[in-house]
Amino acid sequence: MHPGLTRRLRQVLPTARVELAALPDVPELQLYLLNADFSNAALTPEEISAVLDYPAYWIFCWASGQVLARHLLDHPHWVRGRCVLDFGCGSGVAAIAAAKAGAARVIACDLDPDARLATATNARLNGVTVELADDFETVDATVDLILAADVLYDRSNLVWLDRFLHKAPQVLLADSRIKDLHAPGYRWLDRRISTTWPDLDEFDDFRHVNLYLGSQVRRSELPSQA
Ligand SMILES: C[S@@+](CC[C@H](N)C(=O)[O-])C[C@H]1O[C@@H](n2cnc3c(N)ncnc32)[C@H](O)[C@@H]1O
Repeated sequence: MHPGLTRRLRQVLPTARVELAALPDVPELQLYLLNADFSNAALTPEEISAVLDYPAYWIFCWASGQVLARHLLDHPHWVRGRCVLDFGCGSGVAAIAAAKAGAARVIACDLDPDARLATATNARLNGVTVELADDFETVDATVDLILAADVLYDRSNLVWLDRFLHKAPQVLLADSRIKDLHAPGYRWLDRRISTTWPDLDEFDDFRHVNLYLGSQVRRSELPSQA
């Protein structure tokens, strides 16, 4: 069990633990995640409400995160020697895979301070260094590649796709939520099957992860920033 992360999680889920997990599709990495035998059956209405108010996304490695990490470890040329920013890093899975695959610099960005703490802890656990950022807009670095895994769970996040292409020439996007994605500058690359870990027993549909490549087009062709 990880005491510091467990303390953070217990503010919303008093009976949960954060413990070491091996990822089924990325056995090279270990992460601190929600205990696999956690049962939500006995949650009180207050606990359910606390979870809805503060969704602790970082206690899971999402199916899209596993797929993106696998892709980077299998095809390190995407990141080797480059400056990579992982938007919505959660547990840090994609950022850590990028660092393992040889990125020169990795910035892991999440607005949730607990996600940043989890990412820092998981990076140390896997023997890599990542920098942390809380606000994408204020990251002051020349970014070569943006990674984004499972950040489109809320359709209002679609606006980020344009913002990514204003910041970096390339984006690797992994998503299992939106099945009809048509965004300027983005093209479909591949489709893989994976599972959110620990297994949330989600609909089969959410196990099908699409991988997209976003490429900067001429600025005049991009929609103006919202
Ligand atoms: C579903 S989780 C995915 C985590 C990780 N990428 C994975 O695949 O396991 C989405 C993450 O995006 C973060 N997020 C959402 N909006 C954000 C924003 N505007 N800036 C930074 N992070 C954001 C959330 O806090 C959450 O940690």
